Amino acid sequence: MAILPVITAPDPRLKVKSKPVERADDEIRRLMDDMLETMYEAPGIGLSAVQVGVHKRVIVIDLAKEGEEPQPLKLANPEILWLSGETVTFEEGCLSVPGFYAEVTRPAGIRIRYLDPENEARELAADGLLATVIHHEMDHLDGILFIDHLTALRRNIILRKLAKARRAKPPARVAAPGA
Ligand code: NI
Repeated sequence: MAILPVITAPDPRLKVKSKPVERADDEIRRLMDDMLETMYEAPGIGLSAVQVGVHKRVIVIDLAKEGEEPQPLKLANPEILWLSGETVTFEEGCLSVPGFYAEVTRPAGIRIRYLDPENEARELAADGLLATVIHHEMDHLDGILFIDHLTALRRNIILRKLAKARRAKPPARVAAPGA
C-alpha cells in the first residue's frame, strides 16, 4: 500500500467529474487500499479518488473511532437509490479544504447501490454521520466540495485563503478528521 498526495482546493482537478469504473479489478482494489492508507494517515473519515488525482468513481470511508476495530467501506460506482426528505446538519471538513470547517445540511438518510472490491453489486442504507459522509464523498465524484454548499461569499473567502496559503507553503496537516 502507498500513501498518496491529497489535492487541495482550489486545484481545478477537484472540479472534474469522475468516470465510472468498468469493474472492480486488481487495479481498483489497489487504489482502494492506497486511498484507505492515505485517509488513515491524514487522518480522515472519507476519501474520494478525485482527491488523489484519479478521476474514477471510487470512495473509501471508515467511521471507526480511535481504539476501535477499523470498519473500512470500499465503494465503486456508488449510485443514489433514495434520499430522505428529512435533513441533518453536521460540521464538515475535507482533506482537500484543510483547516476549514462549516455546517452543511444534507439528507438525513440515503440508500445507495455500488460495487464492492470483489465487483459484487451491493446496496447500503445509512443515516446519521454515515449518510452525510457518503453524500459528501459522492459530491466529490461530481466535482462538488462541501464549500460549494455555503454562500458564494463564504466559499470565496475560504478559497482565497487556501490559494494564499498554498502560495506561501505546502498545506499544513489537519488535526481534526476531514473527509
Ligand atoms: Ni471531502
